[in-house]
Amino acid sequence: MPTNLIHISDTHFGDPSPTFNRQAIKKALIKQINGIEGDKILIISGDITFKACQQGYRDAEVFFSELIESCGIARANVIACPGNHDIVREGEPFKEFDRFIYTLRRDSVISFTNNNSILLNIQQLCFLLVNSASHLDHTYGQIPDATFTMLDNEKANLQQWKRRIAVTHHHLIGQEINDTSTTRNAYSFLYHLDQSGFDYVLHGHQHSKLDLVCGNNKIRILSARSMSYHGRGYSNGFSLLDPESGTVTPFILTPDEVPGLLTIGVIK
Ligand SMILES: [Fe+2]
Repeated sequence: MPTNLIHISDTHFGDPSPTFNRQAIKKALIKQINGIEGDKILIISGDITFKACQQGYRDAEVFFSELIESCGIARANVIACPGNHDIVREGEPFKEFDRFIYTLRRDSVISFTNNNSILLNIQQLCFLLVNSASHLDHTYGQIPDATFTMLDNEKANLQQWKRRIAVTHHHLIGQEINDTSTTRNAYSFLYHLDQSGFDYVLHGHQHSKLDLVCGNNKIRILSARSMSYHGRGYSNGFSLLDPESGTVTPFILTPDEVPGLLTIGVIK
């Protein structure tokens, strides 16, 4: 049975003008995910909320709690990192994010209040979760120095796992000519990941499906579409990855075909 990574990003809960009806997305996702065979790991690569509004966090907690329950996804198989939209301006910037992920997992393994990067394993997969918004400037991504130190220190230990997968929010390679939000120290990050034998980097922020291989170790950089973004010409959706075979199935959400329902289709 394959292990399926369900990669969802940029859900933007709390957006006063959401792209789709939330109940319709939830219903469509539950139907689609329940049709997937094998173990499931849910990965949410940041921008859970829209401008870190508290209601967005509460809505996200309810949405994902119902989703994982309806799809039988183990709590320990839910992982996430914050995005630039998830920085709370007053008080501790990632306390709300920590509450969100605690609500889903019911443990404190993932906490970005005290950590900039977290290593955890699920089965034979090792995940490195990185907060590319930890410098608290929402206008661009940056990998914290502590991540590089962690990678240097853990290099030998990391080799015990079958696959190594990094998850961060900001993109590593610029896509649009006027975009200045790309991770500024992306080369250092990719270099360290390559040295440690990473297989994948999963990210969000660009709201589009990106797929590129780089480095001596052939790290595959994959971006999921947004689940709620209204950029002109962009399709909303999510991706499914089988880390063993490398098969990526990109889904889009569309109100086509069935009246009153949001359906999910595969598009390359
Ligand atoms: Fe973002």
